[in-house]
Amino acid sequence: MKKILVTYASNAGSTAKIAQAVAAELAKTAEVDILPLEKATALEGYSAVVLGAPMILGWHRGALAFLKRNQDSLSRVPLAIFVTCMSLTKTDETSLEGVPLFVDEKLPKPPKNSGRLSFRENYTTLKKYLMPILKAAPAVKPVSIGVFGGSLQYFNLQWWAAIFALLIVQAQPGDKRNWKAIEAWASGLFKE
Ligand SMILES: Cc1cc2nc3c(=O)[nH]c(=O)nc-3n(C[C@H](O)[C@H](O)[C@H](O)COP(=O)(O)O)c2cc1C
Repeated sequence: MKKILVTYASNAGSTAKIAQAVAAELAKTAEVDILPLEKATALEGYSAVVLGAPMILGWHRGALAFLKRNQDSLSRVPLAIFVTCMSLTKTDETSLEGVPLFVDEKLPKPPKNSGRLSFRENYTTLKKYLMPILKAAPAVKPVSIGVFGGSLQYFNLQWWAAIFALLIVQAQPGDKRNWKAIEAWASGLFKE
């Protein structure tokens, strides 16, 4: 039986819940360990890995560091990445650098003027979010990147985080997690 590691970073908890849903789906056909990043110190023995983290001033720093640190091991097993966020500008990519993308269809919003994106629209595109992830570990080629809505509550943020999320990302508070999309993505992973 396959043994899969699902590891995640989560500041406010919403990405952790998504990781649990991914792990539950994978556990229908494989043995699955689910660990927060700081506990995922040994990658030997896994036949596939899922790494998930939110957009927090770029993709979560801890997740980028994990990817860089474990580049060698992660280039030898199938790796699926997922990203959570609150704002996504609708563009038409279905892959990036040859990596297939799975985007929760409820998440992207069309730009006001597709010929000229505003600062916020440009900041929240798939390319802006995902290229730094792919560049962080060039030896790693994920089998898929899932992009899902997360959850944001302003009352539990520090003031600078709230200002950033309000002004730059213009994210509305709320819960955008689409469990059907998350399960659909997870159920299609690591089939070969
Ligand atoms: C400081 C900060 C920066 C954020 N930056 C972005 C961003 O660039 N794009 C976006 O869509 N969402 C952004 N978000 C929203 C988070 O990605 C979203 O709330 C996510 O679900 C948080 O995951 P967590 O609950 O696991 O921490 C930001 C949130 C915070 C607090």
